[in-house]
Amino acid sequence: MASNDELLLLAINTARDALKLLEQAIGKPNSLEYTFLEVLPKEIKANIDLELEALILSRLKPVGLPMISEEAGDIKGSTENGLRWIIDPLDGTANFVRKLGGSAVSIALWNRDFPVFGVIGEFPSCSLAWGGKSYGSFFDGKRIHVSHFRKRDQSILCTGFPSRFEFVSTRTNRFWEMLSSFGKVRMLGAASISLLQVASGKADAYIEEDIMIWDVASGLAILEGAGGKYKIIPGQHLYSYFVEATNGNLE
Ligand code: IPD
Ligand code: CA
Repeated sequence: MASNDELLLLAINTARDALKLLEQAIGKPNSLEYTFLEVLPKEIKANIDLELEALILSRLKPVGLPMISEEAGDIKGSTENGLRWIIDPLDGTANFVRKLGGSAVSIALWNRDFPVFGVIGEFPSCSLAWGGKSYGSFFDGKRIHVSHFRKRDQSILCTGFPSRFEFVSTRTNRFWEMLSSFGKVRMLGAASISLLQVASGKADAYIEEDIMIWDVASGLAILEGAGGKYKIIPGQHLYSYFVEATNGNLE
């Protein structure tokens, strides 16, 4: 079995190649075609989601570990050591296809319920971030750290409305209450990029309800490696969670 360091290198190289595919896709109208799903009306799927996933899975499959990937779901593998890949081929599909903001390739390795490492390939910058609790965290090779802000009303929250968010008053009221305790609120359109901002000290917290594990798996690993803290509580759907991630200093 490959060591975790070898798996990290594989994930980094795979994310690099996936970014190259994204660069090429921007010039191909066919890759940018997308639809809103009938079964999940606020979810967008594009051809590029599947093209990227095929590339990433073909690279990671030979290792033989189980995988959870957004488009393919559960993929079986050896469960001996508790390790599994958690992949979002493209986080921020809407941003990518509409050229609206950042999107990301996200590849994480978890051991049972805990992150080992995460790799985020950011687009269009094509920057690479990676890290984990026992590695520290890095953005284009430079060490990153969370911020030191303590007061919520003077800090910045990144959040979002996941596709599965129910727009009913009990949930929207709770959401407004949570937003109102922060000084500034941003919605960047990609959970992994939001977590990366917290890990880099540019924002101080990320909170999202019923977000899918593949959206946050790599970001949580990188956040931990940068000194942040998080809590995740199972949500209303298979693989959805309430996630609160902070610099670890907020009161
Ligand atoms: C979405 C983004 C967004 C979050 C949604 C996710 P996708 O990921 O992470 O920030 O609010 O819940 O679905 O669908 O573009 O992979
Ligand atoms: Ca996705």
